[in-house]
Amino acid sequence: MAHEILTLKSVVKRFGGLTVVNDVSLSIHKGGMFGLMGPNGSGKTTLFNIICGLYKPDRGKIFFDGTRIDGLKPHKVFDLGLTRTFQIPRILQRLTVLDNLLIASEGNPGEGLLGLFLRRGAWRRFEREKEMEAKEVLDLLGLKEYADRRACELSGGQMKLLEIARALMTRPKVILLDEPTAGINPVLATKIYKKIGEIRDELHVTFFIIEHRANLLLRNVDWVYVMCRGRIVAEGEPHDVIKDPVVKETYLGG
Ligand SMILES: Nc1ncnc2c1ncn2[C@@H]1O[C@H](COP(=O)(O)OP(=O)(O)OP(=O)(O)O)[C@@H](O)[C@H]1O
Ligand SMILES: [Mg+2]
Repeated sequence: MAHEILTLKSVVKRFGGLTVVNDVSLSIHKGGMFGLMGPNGSGKTTLFNIICGLYKPDRGKIFFDGTRIDGLKPHKVFDLGLTRTFQIPRILQRLTVLDNLLIASEGNPGEGLLGLFLRRGAWRRFEREKEMEAKEVLDLLGLKEYADRRACELSGGQMKLLEIARALMTRPKVILLDEPTAGINPVLATKIYKKIGEIRDELHVTFFIIEHRANLLLRNVDWVYVMCRGRIVAEGEPHDVIKDPVVKETYLGG
């Protein structure tokens, strides 16, 4: 069994009187494609918000790559190598595709203005390296020919890919994807999942993916967690989960 990179132990989150995440324990293994599915309002996005530090859980523990992260600020969690995309893409529409990537990339070499002036050479070198890296990422996602287009000219599917590209520029260990194919037709969605799989294989990034279309998720991940009303109600390999009566009830009866 691969090494656990993200572990949640009995995580609880309440909003007022409502328990939105209820005693969730799960683990994500290095190099895997893990899925999280469940009906609308079951607590999936809230769980991601807790993992990346936007919300502090009321109870429970979260470990990322050996460090306890519950209660840490989002930028701390991010610095440790955990990044995420949002259900609604946060792309800078008027900038070019390439600039969207450069802006997303990690820190700069000359901290502060003074450093910047003193180290112009280093800065230029850094920019050139980042640009090359960005072009490689765009190539990997099939967006290279769009590098100089404005982001607003991309199709819906390409914008989803751009979001993943932006996440990759931060060189994360784990990427949380919140509905990477929301609003995208099934054929294109399948292509996006194929790309995600290629990134996993080439860059050894671990993915944890929210997708509420069960058929799509089950075809594309190694392990699935099913959430319903704040709880994990089933988990396993896709071919087992699909037969689970609780899952059938959640999706058909619920
Ligand atoms: N900040 C908040 N304050 C109060 N209630 C919230 C907050 N965030 C989420 N909720 C509630 O928590 C529940 C779970 O919401 P969440 O967005 O996590 O669900 P989801 O599984 O991601 O749903 P969807 O599939 O529609 O994206 C919902 O009832 C929602 O209204
Ligand atoms: Mg959601």
